[in-house]
Amino acid sequence: MDRNDNCWCGSRKKYKNCHLKFDEKIKGMKYSWLLGQTKPPRHIINNEKDIEGIRASAVINNGCLDMVSEMVKAGVDTETLDQACYDYIVSRGGIPACLNYQGYPKSVCISLNNVVCHGIPSKSTILKEGDILNIDITTILDGYYADASRMFMVGRVSPEAEKLVRVTRECMELGIAAAKPWHFLGDVNAACGNHAMANGFSVVTALGGHGVGKHFHMEPYVAHIGEPNTGMLMVPGMVFTVEPMISAGRPEVDEDRKDGWTVTTKDGSLSAQWEKTILITESGAEVLAW
Ligand code: MF3
Ligand code: CO
Ligand code: CO
Repeated sequence: MDRNDNCWCGSRKKYKNCHLKFDEKIKGMKYSWLLGQTKPPRHIINNEKDIEGIRASAVINNGCLDMVSEMVKAGVDTETLDQACYDYIVSRGGIPACLNYQGYPKSVCISLNNVVCHGIPSKSTILKEGDILNIDITTILDGYYADASRMFMVGRVSPEAEKLVRVTRECMELGIAAAKPWHFLGDVNAACGNHAMANGFSVVTALGGHGVGKHFHMEPYVAHIGEPNTGMLMVPGMVFTVEPMISAGRPEVDEDRKDGWTVTTKDGSLSAQWEKTILITESGAEVLAW
């Protein structure tokens, strides 16, 4: 790419005024093969327009999570929550990304207690006092995806459940705090996992976070366990989720999914998850969807 060409990021700026220095910095760094350090591919670097697109999608997604959080009460069935999310997103011009995604039948995922993730909302799943649940929502607006999930507790829950929900949130926050430009993704992976294990919990490794933006799931894969200073280099313009799934018992999940989706803990133990979509900036990470 010549200095005076239009930059590869699609900004319509000249390369010399856009990603030239960035490319030189990526090229100039040392990558340890032994530590599995890799360069980010160009197609996962977002320009200003892309970031504004994801931001706008996230406004709907954040609002939808705020809306549905008011509806979480004993006696409510999860299909009613799903329908409210569908209406909220569609009435604002968005599309619920989960709906019809690889055949997924509903607009959002609602995962109770021993369900790790991808719980399918249903009339027959009725919230009751003591339940903990995750509501995971992804919105598409003008082709841009924003993905986030939160935990909720119905009435009074057991002290163990409460601790699991709190520690899982801390895992996500510590992971996000470790997300910095020109550092490696292993810092994020390790920050999440170490906190979970220090609290006597286990990290689900069957699924993880992901790049997000122009697609639902793209590079990089974001594990929630790992070694600092390993994996992909984080650079400004990267957007990915941090979404630790933490179990109170063993980390294994049931591979035998009767409905093709619902992921449960193999030992029946409680599991929790929180998710945010973050943007790597020049100075750290900015949360876009929460
Ligand atoms: N929102 C989930 C994630 O965080 C993906 C759900 S896919 C579905 O990546 F099909 F199960 F909805
Ligand atoms: Co999600
Ligand atoms: Co996600």
